[in-house]
Formats: sequence, C-alpha cells, structure tokens
Amino acid sequence: MFLDPSYNSLFAAYLKNPVQTPAYIYSNTKLVENISVFKNLFDKFGVTTHYAMKANSNSTILKLILKAGLKVDVNSLGELKKAMSAGFLPGDLIFAGVGKTDAELETAIQLGLKTIKAESIQELVVIGKIAENLGIPVRIGLRLNPEIDAKTHPYIATGIATSKFGIDKRDIPASIDILRSNKFLNLTTLDAHIGSQITDLNLFVDVFRFLSAQSDEFYKLGFKISDIDLGGGFAVDYDGSGNSTLPLLEDLFSQIAILNDKKFNISIEPGRAIVANSCAIFSTVLYTKRNGEKNFAICDAAMTENIRPSLYGSVHTIVKIVDEQYAQKSLYDVVGPVCESGDFLGENILLPELNRGDVIAILDSGAYTAAMASNYNMRPLSPEYLEKNGELIEIRRRQNINEWIENLEIPYEG
Ligand code: LLP
Repeated sequence: MFLDPSYNSLFAAYLKNPVQTPAYIYSNTKLVENISVFKNLFDKFGVTTHYAMKANSNSTILKLILKAGLKVDVNSLGELKKAMSAGFLPGDLIFAGVGKTDAELETAIQLGLKTIKAESIQELVVIGKIAENLGIPVRIGLRLNPEIDAKTHPYIATGIATSKFGIDKRDIPASIDILRSNKFLNLTTLDAHIGSQITDLNLFVDVFRFLSAQSDEFYKLGFKISDIDLGGGFAVDYDGSGNSTLPLLEDLFSQIAILNDKKFNISIEPGRAIVANSCAIFSTVLYTKRNGEKNFAICDAAMTENIRPSLYGSVHTIVKIVDEQYAQKSLYDVVGPVCESGDFLGENILLPELNRGDVIAILDSGAYTAAMASNYNMRPLSPEYLEKNGELIEIRRRQNINEWIENLEIPYEG
C-alpha cells in the first residue's frame, strides 16, 4: 500500500514520543503543502480561498491558514469568535449557514464581515431589519440552490432541489424585491455550495456557469454582482483509489479563469481538502476477540473521535504502526468502546495480527473528525498534536472530565 511520506514522519514522531492515545496527530508539512495549493490558486488566477473552518477549527491550523493569507468561512458565532481570536479580521470572514440566529446576525453586522450569506428570503428580510435598526449597511451574498447533483453521499449533497440549503430558484424574484426595498442590503455576491467530497470537478464549471448566468439576470435588473463564490467540496482520496482532486485544481481554475475573463472575483470554500490527509488518529488496541466469523480489535478510539465511518459509511485506511511487512494478515473490524453496534472505525480491514497494546493509526482523519467529536458515554475529547520536524507539539489538551462534572452541570435536588 502506498502511504504518503508525511504519515511515516507521524509514525516516527509517535514512536519517539508515544503520547497517550487516543490522539489526533497532524503533519505540519502536509498542512503547509495543502494550504500552498490554494495560495497558488490566488497567485495564479486570483481565486480567493475562504477555509471552511467547520472541517477543523483548531487554532494552530487556523494560524497556518492566516499566515498563508487565506481567509475563512464561518458557520456560527463560535466559529466567528474562534477565527477572530486566531487573528483573522472581520473583513476576512464570510458567514454562511442555513439557520443564523438574530444574535449571530447582529454581531456579524456590527463587526462588518466581508459578506453575510442569505439562505432564504425570510433570512434576507431579517438581515435587512437588523441592519436597518443598527444603521449599518451589510454586504450580502445570496446562496442559491442551483439544483446540481454533487453525486456524493446524500447527507453531504447540498445543491439538489430538495435540499434545505440555499434559495430556491423560484424565490429569486422575491429576493430581488427585498433587496430593492432595503437600502441597507448591498448585494455583492452570488454563491452556491453543492456538497462535499465531490470527485467530478466539472460540476464546479457547471456551478460557475449557473452563477454567472444568474449574475447577468441580476445585472439586467440593476444589480452589479462583483463576486462569485463556488463553495467547497473538493474530494480527497480516502480509500487509496486515486480520487484526490488537489492536483487537478490548477487545471479547473485555469478553465474557470478563461470563462470568467476577469468579470467576477472568484472565491471558494474548501475545508476537507486542506486538512483531511494531514492527520491520523492514533489508537491503542485494548482487546481482541473473535465473535462468530469476525475478528474484532477493540480500540481506545471510537465513533466519538471519528464518526464518519458510522455516519456516512466512509472508509478510512487503517494501519498498524509497526507494520510487520511479511506478517500474515487477517480481516478485522476495528471498533471502539462505545455502546453502539454502529461504533466502528473500519469494517473488514486487512491488518497484521493485532494484540492488546498494539497501536494503530486511522488515516486521513483531519476533517470532520475532531470537529465532530462528541462526549458520548462521557468520553473526554481527545488531544491534538502537531508533528513538526519530527517532534510532537501538543495543540489541544485532552478534555478534563472532572472539570466538566464539577463546573458544567447545575445539580438540582428538588
Ligand atoms: N461551504 C459550505 C457552505 C459548507 O457547508 C461546507 C461543508 C464547505 C464549504 C466545505 O466543504 P468541504 O470542502 O469540506 O467538503 N461532515 C461531512 C462533511 C459535511 C460538510 C458540511 N459543509 C463529512 O465528514 O464528510
């Protein structure tokens, strides 16, 4: 099996300093390399990247993104605050999301974010009212639903007609009426995000064509759109099948640059493509057993560290850290301690014999893993480390359950 060399550096650093598992370990080299792909898109084609921090919001990662001059897409007040505490300015931030609260919108408007995306006509009215009350004009992006099928897992397809995201095409005339009636709403951007883990990059050309055609319609009605945002969703290669899109992005954006002919500022919102393959979850085998026809390796990591296999049926490559190259291999279900049959990190994974105390790594675990971690079964959130020049630097502590028990709940004995 071909393993990216950055993983070998993670394994070596772990063996030198075997930190307590489960732990997320990120490769600084890989992060910088991925980020530079997007920096290059800006340098070559003027494409602005807003990193979708929902994929991974660790502040050390955010700072690497900031250092490279990329911007951020936030989806909640929490993300907004975290991005700003990492050093981003309001003008670096776009605010997306289908259900922003009034309090979130108020803060975003007061701060003067680069753009606030409206995802429904009702939301557009609310943004307009808040902006008017505050007396602050707001730069608006309309997230349109282009009805383009991203051909991905249904849970992460967001641009089909029945999806909850974006403004239905039939609501565009009503949106225009609202924009016309409120001078605090300043429409700058048309946007679409059709889904995640998209392998067919031609779909981004379709999205560009759709938004560009819509902009022409808006222009006829007196609205000059300056920015087109094509969303995120560039696929990564989880199963070694060679479907990584990163090496293809330069071609895609040179094609889009020709179509665009400098008419619009183009921006994108990748999350996964920047972080997924930069990280492995290290986990220790607690027990092995055979139930029926199956070998189980019960590990200290679980769906609480990476919910993707149980939620989307995603396949993550799993390797034994000291892989005896010529050892006989068997199929294992790699599972966690959580009380759910759905708590698995991989099913039928070919691995060398596993024994209690062995350490395995679940690869490509940098996106939507730590970010989607949970405390189910009262498990503390796991720590994160950055591997840099062969050393492990702790970038998030293991959560302290005692603090939670003592501080978070308010015992009531009435
Ligand atoms: N922009 C918007 C408006 C989004 O909703 C998302 C992701 C992105 C950008 C970034 O998409 P990316 O480049 O990361 O594919 N938890 C799922 C993925 C959910 C994606 C949510 N939205 C998973 O683990 O596959």
